[in-house]
Amino acid sequence: MKVQTTHTKLSALKADVSVVFLYEDEESLATHQKEIIAEFPSAEATLGAGDFKAKRKTSVVIYTGNKQLPRLLLVGVGKKADLTIEHLRRAAAYSAKRAASFNVESIALPLLKFNENSAADTAQAIIEGAILSQYKFDKYFTENKDTDKKNINKITLWTETKEDVAGAKAGAEFAVILCQGVNLSRDLANAPNNEIYPETLAKRAEEAGKEAGFHVNVLNKKKIESLKMGGIIAVNQGSVRPPVFIVMEYNGGKKGDKPVVLVGKGITFDTGGISIKPGAGMSDMKMDMHGSASVIGAIYAVAKAKLPINVVALVPSTENMPSGTAYVPGDIITFMNGKTAEIDNTDAEGRLVLADALTYADKYKPQAVIDLATLTGAIVVALGNTTSGLMGNDTALKTRIKVAADRTNEYVCELPLYEEYEELIKSDVADVKNSGGRAAGSITAALFLKKFIGDYPWAHLDIAGTGIAPKETDYNPKGGSGVAVRLLVDMLRNW
Ligand code: BES
Ligand code: MN
Ligand code: ZN
Repeated sequence: MKVQTTHTKLSALKADVSVVFLYEDEESLATHQKEIIAEFPSAEATLGAGDFKAKRKTSVVIYTGNKQLPRLLLVGVGKKADLTIEHLRRAAAYSAKRAASFNVESIALPLLKFNENSAADTAQAIIEGAILSQYKFDKYFTENKDTDKKNINKITLWTETKEDVAGAKAGAEFAVILCQGVNLSRDLANAPNNEIYPETLAKRAEEAGKEAGFHVNVLNKKKIESLKMGGIIAVNQGSVRPPVFIVMEYNGGKKGDKPVVLVGKGITFDTGGISIKPGAGMSDMKMDMHGSASVIGAIYAVAKAKLPINVVALVPSTENMPSGTAYVPGDIITFMNGKTAEIDNTDAEGRLVLADALTYADKYKPQAVIDLATLTGAIVVALGNTTSGLMGNDTALKTRIKVAADRTNEYVCELPLYEEYEELIKSDVADVKNSGGRAAGSITAALFLKKFIGDYPWAHLDIAGTGIAPKETDYNPKGGSGVAVRLLVDMLRNW
């Protein structure tokens, strides 16, 4: 997507579709419409009818008869007093989708500044909404391809205020990089298991590293065995495809500065193993590596934006398959740090591979560790598909995540890790049991992880609901959402 920022007047724009945002407030709407009619007389018939009230997610198109600016798309943004950055992000998404329906290639969007928001933040939100709304996972279609179908490939962000151009340009450029990270994450999550399995996930991480400028080291099965990563080995036991442990390092900060470590669950397909899942909906489990997709997308964007911070991303990756060689309930396994776990349910596999990664993370003496995982169905029951579960042991770190969540509108909600819950994962035969049953399922999963953290501030994001979207929403597609890429990058940018 080509994005440019210009200082211009509406009448001087060149684009297939030129968007104008309008407030619902009567006086503002009347004035604005009058100005539009003065400039584009053909708007009189449409606007004169008075049907368009500028409510959110409504629009009207005006054909101008002007070759360089053939279509004006008036888009409502609701009442001025109610407008937020997120509404603007959604309005831009709505505009881009509506514009795309005209089968055009270029669109112009106005920098609608309001309240105290900077030109950069405003521009970033508008460009994010527009680009993210155009994502499609369509590479596998071979039939019924509409060869005349055009995609929006150019966005012009324009402002009449000269002082805003520099800020808007910076915000728009940052948004482009962010969206590349989000869309990389979506592509990885949506890819089926016969495209993305541990070794190909590692390859894609290597490609991303080459392109964005971060270092990638892939530990193979032999290395994983020699490190005694018993959690990864146990989950991998039923699979014919070998596991990988992907280590990504970006050094944008000072030499010697301790890194922030991100850990992403990389189960490329979760059948449940011997404790096999029901068939209905199982195909969603190709996205059980969304945690890894999120951290790869995030480190990619951090590196591309050259943020001044050291970041490490770790991905323990394997399939979870049933077979004659698979691990079974009752098995007792030993992890990299020497602790043991009784396997109560082979479908509670994510925490097992994360346990070894959280141990491995300690060697960096990290400032903080954040793991992301499609870890529990229970979090979908509790928070649905709009909010990720947040748990952790450090208030300052959790606050950083909450602040970034607010800024990016990637909601999080904290669940408690009271020690009373630990009772649920006590084992009669090992240090811990890998399943605590149905009650407080997301909390007991996090408490399991907590047993494997090193001496560092730690937070866990359960993205089982937010990573896998059952339907399209404003700027997010159905399927892999790319969740938490924007949140993580915002947090690291403001570290
Ligand atoms: N990958 C699943 C969690 C999941 C469920 C993600 C639905 C996305 C949508 C995870 O490995 C799992 O199976 N968890 C079990 C744990 C249980 C056996 C303790 C679950 O949530 O049922
Ligand atoms: Mn599972
Ligand atoms: Zn899983």
